[in-house]
Amino acid sequence: MSTNIEGKVVVITGASSGLGEATARLLSEQGATVVLGARRADRIEALAAELNGNGGRALAVATDVTDRGQVKALVDAAAQAYGRVDVMINNAGLMPHSPLERLKVGDWEQTIDVNLKGVLYGIAAALPYMQEQRAGHFINVSSVAGHKVSPAGAVYAATKHAVRALSEGLRQEVKAYNIRTTVISPGAVATELPDSITEADVSQGIHEFYETIAIPADSFARMVAFAVSQPEDVDVNEILYRPTRQML
Ligand SMILES: NC(=O)c1ccc[n+]([C@@H]2O[C@H](COP(=O)([O-])OP(=O)(O)OC[C@H]3O[C@@H](n4cnc5c(N)ncnc54)[C@H](OP(=O)(O)O)[C@@H]3O)[C@@H](O)[C@H]2O)c1
Repeated sequence: MSTNIEGKVVVITGASSGLGEATARLLSEQGATVVLGARRADRIEALAAELNGNGGRALAVATDVTDRGQVKALVDAAAQAYGRVDVMINNAGLMPHSPLERLKVGDWEQTIDVNLKGVLYGIAAALPYMQEQRAGHFINVSSVAGHKVSPAGAVYAATKHAVRALSEGLRQEVKAYNIRTTVISPGAVATELPDSITEADVSQGIHEFYETIAIPADSFARMVAFAVSQPEDVDVNEILYRPTRQML
């Protein structure tokens, strides 16, 4: 068991695949209680059953992060079942890359709703509990695209830059409540993320890039574990990591 992870109640959005699923597995192995949110209820229920079967404590709550009430219900369920909310991982996201000139306005709106407003709803849901506890930890998921902008990735990069700005503002404001704030910015990690691209040519290019370079999702889980496992007076504010072979 890792110091300062065992016994914590950790809420994870986007826990049905990729980075969220890998994080749920690792933190559960290390003794955390995990509360899993995503729209695909079958996936998170199966994961919760597996983790509970392995001696962990896990709860699945079907959640669409574009609905503020559902995000509140996810966090409230964690507090009701386990008495507190120690870590809120705002991880749910999608990446429907396309050049702006194709005017995929529906994709733009969904990206903002999930990647940015979903994070805000997670903050709104968990902050009152953490203020009351005078302890807590937000982990918000940005990206290398929160540092760099590339063609066809403008809207995604805009949301991920916004997540970093939001996290820094949150960090400054919650000091008085003894709350920690970490933003993690991964490079290419092998998940279902490229499947959210709706333009065939862009999708092909990104899939080829990921197949060449992407690293496993447990890389992200280890970053989360590193930040959470620090002593409570140590606040890891920002982690940027890439596959060793990734240049940009
Ligand atoms: N993989 C990478 O290379 C990479 C790099 C940098 C940053 N990231 C970020 O990492 C985060 C996780 O992505 P991933 O790579 O793990 O991709 P993924 O495998 O596609 O997972 C995305 C997760 O987000 C959830 N999600 C999407 N829309 C949602 C909604 N409306 N409500 C609730 N959950 C929703 C999905 O669950 P449901 O579909 O079941 O709802 C899924 O669990 C994202 O924020 C992504 O931007 C990934």
